[in-house]
Amino acid sequence: MQRFCVVFFLFLLSLCFCLCKASVSYDHKAIIINGQRRILISGSIHYPRSTPEMWPDLIKKAKEGGLDVIQTYVFWNGHEPEPGKYYFEDRYDLVKFIKLIKEAGLYAHLRIGPYACAEWNFGGFPVWLKYVPGISFRTDNAPFKAAMEKFTRHIVYKMKFEGLYENQGGPIILSQIENEYGPMEYELGDPARAYSKWAANMAVGLKTGVPWIMCKQDDAPDPTINTCNGFYCDYFTPNKYYKPKMWTEAWSGWFTEFGGAVPYRPAEDLAFSVAKFIQTGGSFINYYMYHGGTNFGRTAGGPFIATSYDYDAPLDEFGLKREAKWGHLKDLHRAIKLCEPVLVSGDPSVISLGHYQKAYVYKNKTGGCAAFLANDDKSAFAKVNFQDKHYNLPPWSVSILPDCKNTVFNTARVGAQTTVMQMTREPTGFAWQSYNDETEYYDDNTFGTVGLLEQLNVTRDASDYLWYMTDVKIDANERFLVRGEQPTFTALSAGHALHVFINGQLSGTVYGSLENPKITFNGVVNLRAGLNKISLLSIAVGLPNIGPHFETWNAGVLGPVMLSGLNEGRRDLSWQKWSYKVGLKGEILSLHSLSGSSSVEWVQGSYVAQKQPLTWYKATFDAPSGDEPLALDMNSMGKGQVWVNGQSIGRYWPAYKAKGNCSTCSYAGYYDEKKCLSNCGEASQRWYHVPRSWLNPRGNLLVVFEELGGIPYGISLVKREVYSVCADIYEWQPSLLSYQAQVSGKATKPLRPKAHLSCSPGRNVSSVKFASYGTPEGGCGSFQQGHCHAKNSYDVFNKICVGQESCAVAVSPEVFKGDPCPSVLKKLSVEVICS
Ligand SMILES: *[C@@H]1O[C@H](CO)[C@@H](O)[C@H](O)[C@H]1NC(C)=O
Ligand SMILES: *[C@@H]1O[C@H](CO)[C@@H](O)[C@H](O)[C@H]1NC(C)=O
Ligand SMILES: *[C@@H]1O[C@H](CO)[C@@H](O)[C@H](O)[C@H]1NC(C)=O
Ligand SMILES: *[C@@H]1O[C@H](CO)[C@@H](O)[C@H](O)[C@H]1NC(C)=O
Repeated sequence: MQRFCVVFFLFLLSLCFCLCKASVSYDHKAIIINGQRRILISGSIHYPRSTPEMWPDLIKKAKEGGLDVIQTYVFWNGHEPEPGKYYFEDRYDLVKFIKLIKEAGLYAHLRIGPYACAEWNFGGFPVWLKYVPGISFRTDNAPFKAAMEKFTRHIVYKMKFEGLYENQGGPIILSQIENEYGPMEYELGDPARAYSKWAANMAVGLKTGVPWIMCKQDDAPDPTINTCNGFYCDYFTPNKYYKPKMWTEAWSGWFTEFGGAVPYRPAEDLAFSVAKFIQTGGSFINYYMYHGGTNFGRTAGGPFIATSYDYDAPLDEFGLKREAKWGHLKDLHRAIKLCEPVLVSGDPSVISLGHYQKAYVYKNKTGGCAAFLANDDKSAFAKVNFQDKHYNLPPWSVSILPDCKNTVFNTARVGAQTTVMQMTREPTGFAWQSYNDETEYYDDNTFGTVGLLEQLNVTRDASDYLWYMTDVKIDANERFLVRGEQPTFTALSAGHALHVFINGQLSGTVYGSLENPKITFNGVVNLRAGLNKISLLSIAVGLPNIGPHFETWNAGVLGPVMLSGLNEGRRDLSWQKWSYKVGLKGEILSLHSLSGSSSVEWVQGSYVAQKQPLTWYKATFDAPSGDEPLALDMNSMGKGQVWVNGQSIGRYWPAYKAKGNCSTCSYAGYYDEKKCLSNCGEASQRWYHVPRSWLNPRGNLLVVFEELGGIPYGISLVKREVYSVCADIYEWQPSLLSYQAQVSGKATKPLRPKAHLSCSPGRNVSSVKFASYGTPEGGCGSFQQGHCHAKNSYDVFNKICVGQESCAVAVSPEVFKGDPCPSVLKKLSVEVICS
């Protein structure tokens, strides 16, 4: 009996242990993991936007940057390309990605959706889903709900089978169902509300052991947690008191569209927004994106989303640290973590320090205290008094005081170095061969019908390209033939781009934009007496990913199509017989692949076509030495697609120049995606990432398909390298090192901050481009001396840094042989060249 009791007791113990281990839960304050409330820093890395070979390094750099969690969407159209046929290999190896996160000791947040938006083709939905009879996406619709549930179950069961949920010892602590459904619900009303309840119940019913969130949806049903997405979320409160304040998408920048300028977001403002979220009680923040990566192949959505999904993220498209953003956020995360034990213990008390200034003070039962001092003033410094000490707060900034006394971090004072990157051209060019595609290509798959067809209905997105071909008979009596005035051809298209060929000659091109994909071609064309061939090449540039029932939006030439300036006046061609052909001849022959590329006769040497529309190019090349990321400079080309060893690098379109206002922007003041732009008047995207892992040491096949006409000899392979590094440090700038020295009693007053400079591994500082201790002005790359300048500034860096991989110089008069201007607030600005 006694033994039974002991055994029973042990059983109870283990049960209890199991239950404790099992729980990821939440309360008003935070997500609770194994009984502990946590302040969690998370970052989005979308696995198909990089290669499996890049994943370990991305995850390592995320951890080094202070992240606890990696967040990703699940991309349905990548995993179920045909109904019931699943794919989880290569870039879609979700299990491997989650296991790598676990190996790195991080948690995972799995946003199953399965609607992803994400500027991803069709928002992540497979195109076949649109053609399920009776379907209507993301609403109270039986066929849609059945498909959504089936895929969600598939993913959840796969994760369970692999033991990847937290209660199984795996890294997944959170999940998401649906995505940004609030605006949809507002738009669609009652059926949407019913659907949202169904989605929450369905997800919770899958018993994953982890909380489900529904982002950007104020009425997310219990127990799902409604969370915030945006540039700022400090204003946000969850819909129930017992839910934690979570920010699922802190936008680190913004996406690039073809034809748009490239947005960036200053690190000071991003850090400010995060500090404000934490100070107002937030306990989970996810950077969208932490690594944006690349829309390889035809995965970009939109339409018109660029191939680069860099997003101005802390890790750039190529997987390199974007400094100072990466380093500044790392410093922010360390400061927040120092406050964690106090932050999770309760709500702050808020003290006004001035008109635009506030202190948020957190205390715990054992006497811990942490404070955030915020200055919301967009233009002015503020001198504030907090607990009998004076603090100087730069405009639009938050200072973090983990002990309510000493500042370790201010969001507007960047202590991390800034790195300037360059694209270094490889010396050897390409020996091109070319092949001209055909405007009149009929085969077994060509079909004819009366009238104009919707594009996606015909292509099912098997290709970007759909040919619309018809004949036009011109009578020899047409007056325009005699007068020499040509008729006008008009074609209305639902999008997205259109090339008009008359008798095999390109007559013109029109294309839309993300804001307005609809287009009209209206141009004078050369027609001759007799039969004329009109071939319209209609191009989809990524399928829409957002908007009410975006699945119903059309593409292609829907008409009317007409000729005007004939004897009869206008002739409507819309209702005559048209022939259709999905894809280009070169696509059907798989010219991009190793096996298919030899199926046609290519020309070489002086016969290679240049500035010729519809041209294929191929060349072979050896992999460059080193491990720097690689890209193709496509600036001499127009629009098309590019492949390396049969793998699609993506769509390129340097001919589409960036519209926008690229004047300089200040970090201070509310940010939006139009505020800070670059590349105006230049290609929206010039460089296209070629993953190293797709290359063999020798003989790699590069294939380019050019639609408009370009100069292939202008294409080059480039390495992405560090050109220079900068530091820009104020006297008495808060630093973690100084704080730790004081807290541990090693220092009695703040230590002098240091300018830390570090070239990438294997590269050393070769020269000093700029150095000034005093009152220098400008930013990295454009520093200038101010009225106060220590004369030996250059000497100091020449002596300490040149020839070294990294170095550090204290911002202190002793180092610069005295104070060049006592009683003036000084700083140290420096830029050194790495080589
Ligand atoms: C209170 O905060 C202090 C300072 O961060 C910390 O050392 C201590 O462990 C915290 N106490 C509790 C009960 O969490
Ligand atoms: C798509 O095709 C179907 C039949 O295949 C037709 O009923 C429908 O009207 C087409 N949609 C459009 C927009 O052309
Ligand atoms: C660009 O933006 C700046 C700052 O907002 C403004 O001063 C300037 O007038 C704008 N330029 C154009 C051409 O719109
Ligand atoms: C680069 O610096 C390291 C020390 O940081 C030194 O050992 C190495 O010799 C230097 N290399 C060159 C080429 O100057």
